[in-house]
Amino acid sequence: MFNSLEPSRPDAILALMQAFSADAREDKVDLGVGVYKDADGATPVLRAVQRAEQRLLETQTTKSYVSPVGLESFRDAMCRQVFGADADLSRIRCAQAVGGSGALRILGDLLRRSRPEAGLHLSDPTWPNHVPLLKSCGFALHDYPYYDRDSGQVAIVALLDALRAMPEGDIVVLHGCCHNPTGADLTLQQWRAVLDVVMERSLFPFIDLAYQGFGDGLEEDAAAVRLFADHVPEMAVAASCSKNLGLYRERVGAALLLAQDTPQADLAFGQLGTLVRSNYSMPPDHGARSTDIVLSDPVLSEDWKAELESMRQRMMSLRQRFADGLRQRSNSPRFDAVAGQRGMFSLLPLTPAHIETLRERHGIYLVGSGRINVAGLPDDEPGMAALCEAIVAVGSA
Ligand code: LMR
Repeated sequence: MFNSLEPSRPDAILALMQAFSADAREDKVDLGVGVYKDADGATPVLRAVQRAEQRLLETQTTKSYVSPVGLESFRDAMCRQVFGADADLSRIRCAQAVGGSGALRILGDLLRRSRPEAGLHLSDPTWPNHVPLLKSCGFALHDYPYYDRDSGQVAIVALLDALRAMPEGDIVVLHGCCHNPTGADLTLQQWRAVLDVVMERSLFPFIDLAYQGFGDGLEEDAAAVRLFADHVPEMAVAASCSKNLGLYRERVGAALLLAQDTPQADLAFGQLGTLVRSNYSMPPDHGARSTDIVLSDPVLSEDWKAELESMRQRMMSLRQRFADGLRQRSNSPRFDAVAGQRGMFSLLPLTPAHIETLRERHGIYLVGSGRINVAGLPDDEPGMAALCEAIVAVGSA
């Protein structure tokens, strides 16, 4: 049976995660996989989540089935978190999903089923797993230019030109905030320009919102989604609770869609449920139910927001210290953009050879594209200094 299969190619981010674990050096630095780390290098269970899980353990009386689209109160809470507390939900629907990736996949399947002739466009660069994940839905994939490596900013002119050249009705995947891997986000003014072209060309916006709360704040990071929702007739959003609630392995996400009218919203939502049922039947419950407890309890919700905000602030301050350290040591503005970028990632201007040297000689792990996880930067001064020195040394060798 299986001898006809091609050997699989390992996912670069997951392979890096394994290589890091296997490295025995004590002073190794993990800037690879996108998980939040505190000053001690730990990825904590958030306080409010812990309390919610405790409550769940004490009060849950059954683990009987819920539904292919998941828990209703969780779904409502996610609609409000993404589209805003006052959003008109008559055209919006949400299915609980198996993480942000699961949301991307079921929405991708739904869009492919709805408009099989549409091409799907991804930013260059993008999260590497976007490619196999959305290819598996059957789409013909295309790239659009996104990042200007010299300035560390969005290549807005090239991006708008590419959008204008897309066939009408095609699907464009946009990162709602905290672009992965570059950290270069559109300004609100640039989002407005993108929106104009999306509407002109009748493109279908498919927004990946995996890092809400890690960029400029929980509400601020939803600004692009909400701007689009105010203007476009239809769109899809894949939201994740992996990062902002630290629920990575529990797999909690939301597949959200905005349709032209209520009947179409119901039609699409029904199909989403059917897609789930024929695939894995139902999503896991524990993480979504814990999230629901956090979001619906005012005390837990406030505590969660405060902890999330302190995580965000920590990443911002690490960005600044890292950029300052690199500037001092390199005496050049090459790395300055890192300070102004947002979210968990930045793309350093390093070659694959530099990245290999960093790993082999210094035990510093970053993705082959030059992507770093900002939350993994050392908090202590000597650690930060050693990292900056190593990067400048390999970069100028
Ligand atoms: C990342 O980009 O590192 C994260 O989203 C984790 C993953 O699954 O790749």
